Amino acid sequence: MSVKDRDPLTGHQTTGHEWNGITELNTRVPRVVWFFIIVTHLWAVVVWILLPSWPLVTTYTKGILGLDQREEVAKKVVAANTDRAAWGDRIKSMSADEILENPELMARVNDTGHQLFGDNCAGCHGAQATGGQGFPNLIDGSWLWGGDTETVMETLRVGINSPHPDTRWAQMPAFGRDGLLPRGDVRMVVDYVQSLSGTEAPADRIAAGAEIFANNCTSCHSNDGTGNVDAGAPNLRDDFWIYGGDDEAMFRTIWAGRQGWMPAWEDRLTETERKIIAVYLQHARQDTVK
Ligand code: HEC
Ligand code: HEC
Repeated sequence: MSVKDRDPLTGHQTTGHEWNGITELNTRVPRVVWFFIIVTHLWAVVVWILLPSWPLVTTYTKGILGLDQREEVAKKVVAANTDRAAWGDRIKSMSADEILENPELMARVNDTGHQLFGDNCAGCHGAQATGGQGFPNLIDGSWLWGGDTETVMETLRVGINSPHPDTRWAQMPAFGRDGLLPRGDVRMVVDYVQSLSGTEAPADRIAAGAEIFANNCTSCHSNDGTGNVDAGAPNLRDDFWIYGGDDEAMFRTIWAGRQGWMPAWEDRLTETERKIIAVYLQHARQDTVK
């Protein structure tokens, strides 16, 4: 088919292109398309004249309206900071109980706290703060170091087994690996610890395990196994387990020890932010426990 061919139906010339018997008409670009091309180009010229647009070597064309988005952003940042400062100062000076009873502040705390927790903590403690294997649940009311706002804020400030000079140390010794207890004794004390939270085992094994426990474990976990917040040693009588309460997990805990690691947040979150998170968690806990 040659370029000169005409379409019999419309009388238009064809371009000469053909696909499976379908030929392309050589029609003109519609006026409306030209119209919009011209309008948008004229608009671009107007914008170049009015607004900042072209980069030059060391500066840029500023436009005759003199608009500057950077100034706008700076103004908004200042406004947001003063806004936060107004209620942030109140968070700082009020006690956790006072904040919890103040619906207006709690709306801020829940909003900001949720965000801060999601950005900084959820990766380890889970989006709902319910923890997971190796990471404690923060809203179950079972504590390593204690759950009032002050204590949680201190845990956040210094971390656990962290490089911070004031860090909290949590050292569950490796009784088996370090040769403090033979394998059989570790098995026996596992039975005893499980019996504390209601798992059945033969009475003689529990009695033997109780003695091993009294000799090796009470300095940190207390005489009755309810733990000790000064040593970060968990309560072994409740049914919350960081590492698991089944035979295998518990054997591994006592055989090889555990040293959980939690970063220090002193340099990464302000004191007010740490307090917001602590109150946020306390509020979440009130909703869950009880
Ligand atoms: C890298 C993982 C990781 C991140 C991130 C993390 N944590 Fe932890 N956190 C841990 C571990 C592990 C422990 C338990 C340490 C232990 O077993 O001794 C812990 C313990 C805690 C405790 C002590 C709980 C108790 O029972 O006393 C609190 C409170 C806590 N985290 C809050 C937070 C908050 C709030 C954030 C966010 C600002 C956060 N954590 C971020 C890993 C993490
Ligand atoms: C020096 C103090 C210390 C001694 C002694 C000690 N523990 Fe611990 N234990 C800890 C600490 C601290 C943790 C928490 C470790 C962590 O999460 O980082 C822990 C954790 C545990 C856990 C894990 C609990 C969970 O939630 O998963 C078990 C089980 C346990 N200890 C049992 C024992 C038994 C049994 C003994 C005696 C044979 C013992 N501990 C002796 C400090 C101690």
